Amino acid sequence: MQIPAELRERFARARRVLVLTGAGVSAESGVPTFRGGGNSAVWRGMPFDVISSAEMVERDLPAVWEWFDYRRNLLAELNPNPAHYEIARWQERFAEFTLVTQNVDGLHQKAGSRKMIELHGNIWRARCTACDTAYSMVQERRPDACFECGDLLRPDVVLFGEMLPPGAFELAAACASQCELCFVVGTSALVYPAAALPEIAKAAGAYVVEVNPERTPLSSLCDEVLTGKAGEVLPLFQR
Ligand SMILES: NC(=O)c1ccc[n+]([C@@H]2O[C@H](COP(=O)([O-])OP(=O)(O)OC[C@H]3O[C@@H](n4cnc5c(N)ncnc54)[C@H](O)[C@@H]3O)[C@@H](O)[C@H]2O)c1
Ligand SMILES: [Zn+2]
Repeated sequence: MQIPAELRERFARARRVLVLTGAGVSAESGVPTFRGGGNSAVWRGMPFDVISSAEMVERDLPAVWEWFDYRRNLLAELNPNPAHYEIARWQERFAEFTLVTQNVDGLHQKAGSRKMIELHGNIWRARCTACDTAYSMVQERRPDACFECGDLLRPDVVLFGEMLPPGAFELAAACASQCELCFVVGTSALVYPAAALPEIAKAAGAYVVEVNPERTPLSSLCDEVLTGKAGEVLPLFQR
């Protein structure tokens, strides 16, 4: 595959770029995508959307932690792939660069991306159920309780039945409405409101590019569809 000349030109002169990523950007790192089996997982007889729900945090927080500790342990072994590294390079390359991710796996950070809008939180953070203080679990082990108020901690991840973090979508939407070039990488574009971001960008005049081995409901809206794996397609922009 080659990057089409028009896109290459736009990429070379763009100042404001937004990238939206989904589970597909981590597929080549070994993280199962949602549709690729990630959502059919069962933990102790409970389907994914039951154990990862707001209701379960109320009912059985230790079970939720067991499930998230287990997932963090699996993720600890995995590494970023060339797509994560390429996206990390783009933060230096453009005057204004916004990374918006639906992923919770922390692989963008591991690849060197410093600033991003995490629409669904991060599996490497815990947060106090009472005062919202956040705790990183990248280097540290998980605290038993909040150091500020002593209350219970929960995963800092958006669970089924929960709202997005306050302000996260609004900020992403504002960036989308100002970007010139918008990349949609590895998302099935079925989960709203994330899927609205490329629509906002397009409506505001941005050139929208999809990177995905399969067509999605967004493909027809895009100015360019790069059919392929993120880890193979994105590094082509270096050349
Ligand atoms: N890594 C993670 O953190 C992770 C993993 C699974 C699910 N989730 C959550 O599940 C929800 C599902 O939505 P979604 O759209 O992110 O994922 P999704 O599973 O619905 O869609 C994944 C998309 O990635 C594409 N894809 C597969 N391999 C690819 C590759 N190598 N390169 C590029 N694209 C590839 C698929 O064709 C599909 O369109 C999200 O809300 C997300 O928070 C996160
Ligand atoms: Zn607290």
